[in-house]
Amino acid sequence: MRIAVFGAGYVGLVTGACFAELGHDVAVRDVVAEKIDALRRGEVPIHEEGLEDLLERNRERLRFTTGVDEAIEGAEVVYVAVGTPPTYSGDADLSAVWTVVDELPRVDRRIVFAMKSTVPVGTGRTVRHRLDERGFENVGYVSNPEFTAEGTAVRDFLHPDRIVIGAFDGADADVVERLHAGIDAPVIRCDVASAEMIKLAANAALVTRISFINEIANVCEATGADVLTVAKGIGLDRRIGSSFLRAGIGFGGSCFPKDSLALKQLAANSGYNFQLLNAVIEVNELQKRRVIGKRERRLGTLRGKKVALLGLAFKPGTDDMREAPSLVLAGRLLAVGAHVSAWDPVADGGVLLDGVEIAATALEAVDGADAAVLVTEWPELRDLDWAEAGARMRKKLIVDGRNMLDPVELRALGFEYEGIGRAVE
Ligand code: UDX
Repeated sequence: MRIAVFGAGYVGLVTGACFAELGHDVAVRDVVAEKIDALRRGEVPIHEEGLEDLLERNRERLRFTTGVDEAIEGAEVVYVAVGTPPTYSGDADLSAVWTVVDELPRVDRRIVFAMKSTVPVGTGRTVRHRLDERGFENVGYVSNPEFTAEGTAVRDFLHPDRIVIGAFDGADADVVERLHAGIDAPVIRCDVASAEMIKLAANAALVTRISFINEIANVCEATGADVLTVAKGIGLDRRIGSSFLRAGIGFGGSCFPKDSLALKQLAANSGYNFQLLNAVIEVNELQKRRVIGKRERRLGTLRGKKVALLGLAFKPGTDDMREAPSLVLAGRLLAVGAHVSAWDPVADGGVLLDGVEIAATALEAVDGADAAVLVTEWPELRDLDWAEAGARMRKKLIVDGRNMLDPVELRALGFEYEGIGRAVE
């Protein structure tokens, strides 16, 4: 089949590359000419495992363009994969979506407009009205949300837990289901509002688990229990399951913070106070800041002290720093007058972290530091020469914000080690 994908961001590129891999002809369209030029030259603007290979392998089935007409030409399905960032009020900003809807040219065949971007429940109905107003009855509308995580997006797309297709018309859902031929996964066919809600609710369920285990961790710290043991013990209960129970310094990224806020606002705008979700968001904000308190308890005031942040990306395997806990940590540390050094193997913190000294290596970052905070669980940090790191530090204090390191080993090296929800010695 022939498809067009609007938006050459993270979701659009993964969607385009994966549909090409499934044998479809794909045109990816973006308004940013430099991005399209780079893609034509074979350069991939984001760091995503397997994406470059996939784009290269399917070169002859992929086109990149800035032209709407060129992208739509012959397409049976038009995917929308543009950004929906939060506005000041926390609602999703749908202006890029509306631009695509309004730019859609009149065509004399049936096409399906498929929404990949995460949008509030009710968006599909509003888009449907707008299309009808423009006399576009031959354009079907389908909600086909993505559930891909950064770092594993290609695998998540090609081997998903489920495919969700919400449509107003069964024939449009058939077209989108056919597009996914070759993927072995259960298909949920439903109404558009439910498909939109599945995406938001899935993210809400996952962030609830993270804030839950983070609160359990905080109670563990107060009571002497160990959250890793507790997570294992509860995770083996099949009704609970073991995933997303890693306690740490909070969730970040391009989806969780934005989508939980959007669902909170969506509920509020509809007159409902989503108390549980409000608490989940609040717990996450406090979790990022707890590390500062931990340091202050050990060091007294942090004014003039040097703190090294190890890892900046919101999770390992990506250079993405959107809503990363490192941003809050750096901001708070600078605000209390600490010197902050930071290192990350791929994320470029220089632009975002004004006033932070960016080091070329982790050892350089900890040089002369009064404390180090492991912010992102990069494997490089597990393998770091911690004896050498300790020798370079002014004080051997470490907060392991991801419970990645072995406390016994570090304490044997003379470190004062503190994890999240683990016994303090
Ligand atoms: C997430 C969802 O997994 C994906 O389905 C959705 O489409 C987009 O949002 P992503 O943001 O790429 O994907 O990353 P994910 O691996 O889910 O992690 C998100 C954040 O939660 C990270 O900051 C991570 O460190 C944190 N996290 C995750 C925890 O703190 N504990 C956990 O147990 C799991």
